[in-house]
Amino acid sequence: MTIPADFDFSRYDRIRPIQWTGDALQLLDQRKLPFVVENVLCSSSDEVAEAITALTVRGAPAIGIAAAWGVVLAARSVQAADGAQALVALQPAIDRLNASRPTAVNLAWALARMSAALGRAGADWLDVVEAEAAAIAREDLAANHAMGALGADLIAAGSGVLTHCNTGSLATAGFGTALGVIRAGVATGRIGKVYAGETRPWLQGARLTVWELSQDGIDPTLIADSAAAHLMKTGAVQWVIVGADRICANGDTANKIGTYQLAIAARHHGVKFMVVAPSSTVDMSTAHGDEIDIEERDPGELYGVGGVRTVAEGIAAWNPVFDVVPAGLIDAIVTERGVISAPDAAAMAAAFASA
Ligand code: MRU
Repeated sequence: MTIPADFDFSRYDRIRPIQWTGDALQLLDQRKLPFVVENVLCSSSDEVAEAITALTVRGAPAIGIAAAWGVVLAARSVQAADGAQALVALQPAIDRLNASRPTAVNLAWALARMSAALGRAGADWLDVVEAEAAAIAREDLAANHAMGALGADLIAAGSGVLTHCNTGSLATAGFGTALGVIRAGVATGRIGKVYAGETRPWLQGARLTVWELSQDGIDPTLIADSAAAHLMKTGAVQWVIVGADRICANGDTANKIGTYQLAIAARHHGVKFMVVAPSSTVDMSTAHGDEIDIEERDPGELYGVGGVRTVAEGIAAWNPVFDVVPAGLIDAIVTERGVISAPDAAAMAAAFASA
């Protein structure tokens, strides 16, 4: 690996979307980017749950981290002798947070981890939950740095890459998953050109990814989602690199709507397809992609752009916001534990027997 362990990633990673102030959760409002850079403060777990549902904070690892801090906020109004007692009192708040979005497993994973820490805690349970939320965020950042190095190592010098949605610092504790690999790849000369799809209808690519990369001195090129197959045909990209919201026991991977068609087009054109996600995104209890609850959002998201209506009144619309890439279309799944090439149930079981 050419990236030294003490490589200074900070130049490529300046944005922090989730910050604990000591008594509130500060979220960079992703609904308003890129033209309004504004934070919102959540002072209760209900406000955190609302922020997750409304996409004020978004991205699989980020919503897990935010939910963990939501538990800390709820804990502050609970009186209990130990963690087990506190867990009973906090269950309604935990359930509400868990229901705030359905597809990304990081949310349930973080809440299970917070619940387990509470279950073990004694009289100092309030300190324990706060330390656990901080650990979840810290470990996510470390996982992203590790995945950046592992993923970049798969890419030949001077390659072009295409990414989808936003998987960067905005979607994580920092650095990003797929965007972390892209940052590491650019930093080490493995990636010479970065393309980002707009990611209709919420425009995570157009509003967030290209802004985030440009903040860090990386120069992306935006494409319409519908230009992806044509881009691949030109030979300009050697890898499609995406994140994940849930990776099943057989390697099937849910990610932002449009990822599936990118994987099909990539295979057709001989372009490699990489999924980058921390082990908190792996769900060994879900056997395959058909079992994943795919979030459907308000069809109104399809009726316009930037608040301007573009569709005639009275038109029906269907708005699933994730899809599933079958494992057979994935060349590599990169987690902080290592690289799984040509993932299938056996390879996943070998890597995540304890997940
Ligand atoms: O609806 P979103 O914006 O939360 O969807 C985000 C994605 O699909 C990301 O690609 C995924 O969460 C990976 S983020 C590191």
